[in-house]
Amino acid sequence: MGRKFLVGGNWKCNGTIEEVKKIVTTLNEAEVPPEDVVEVIISPPFVFLTLVKSLLRLDFYVAAQNCWVRNGGAFTGEISAEMLVNLGIPWVILGHSERRSLLNETNEFVGDKVAYALSRGVKVIACVGETLEQRESDSTMEVIAVQTKAIAERISNWDNVVLAYEPVWAIGTGKVATPIQAQEIHCELRKWLKDNVSPEVAESTRIIYGGSVNGSNCKDLAAQPDVDGFLVGGASLKPEFLDIIKSAT
Ligand code: G3H
Repeated sequence: MGRKFLVGGNWKCNGTIEEVKKIVTTLNEAEVPPEDVVEVIISPPFVFLTLVKSLLRLDFYVAAQNCWVRNGGAFTGEISAEMLVNLGIPWVILGHSERRSLLNETNEFVGDKVAYALSRGVKVIACVGETLEQRESDSTMEVIAVQTKAIAERISNWDNVVLAYEPVWAIGTGKVATPIQAQEIHCELRKWLKDNVSPEVAESTRIIYGGSVNGSNCKDLAAQPDVDGFLVGGASLKPEFLDIIKSAT
């Protein structure tokens, strides 16, 4: 069976109640390809998870943007995977580069988080990607391999994992990876999974691209054989997100 296209909208730390309602109304009124063609996941800030879940069409899903590395307790400001389950939130984004760089999340910490969320039944979009400096020193694949290895060492079942390749230099910069650049890394990452996990996992795991995806560049990126969808930041707050969803077909 082929890999189903997946489009995630990561709202990051944006939105008011009014804006959330407006975006959700736009999403709800849109005609998009059916759920068996494209899986759509909307990731608002924690405080809006319940609101979005209560208003959003049933064929779209909701993701948190992070969760704690183990169960709850005295961890001020954190949200546990158990809480996401309790709220009926099926997905979480982990290891986003903004958390890796601004909040010093290490590869091991991200790997532990992925393993814990999966153990609680929360599906994971795990982000990996290199900085501009790392790309320019030709260490892109090495960096991504180390990030992915920290996850692979901690999990045994990849069914509920999506990898998001997000080159840091492309995030929020308007400087998108070319379709050739994205395909090259996605293909290498899939080969890494084949060699280090299993051919089955390599074949079935979705690898989505993130970094300045918009309504104009999505079609060419989506046409690449190893690009299985997108994790969209800025454009997920705008009506052009619908064009990105439609690039699945
Ligand atoms: O999670 C999404 C990525 O960080 C991409 O953000 O589309 O604003 O570049 P962007």
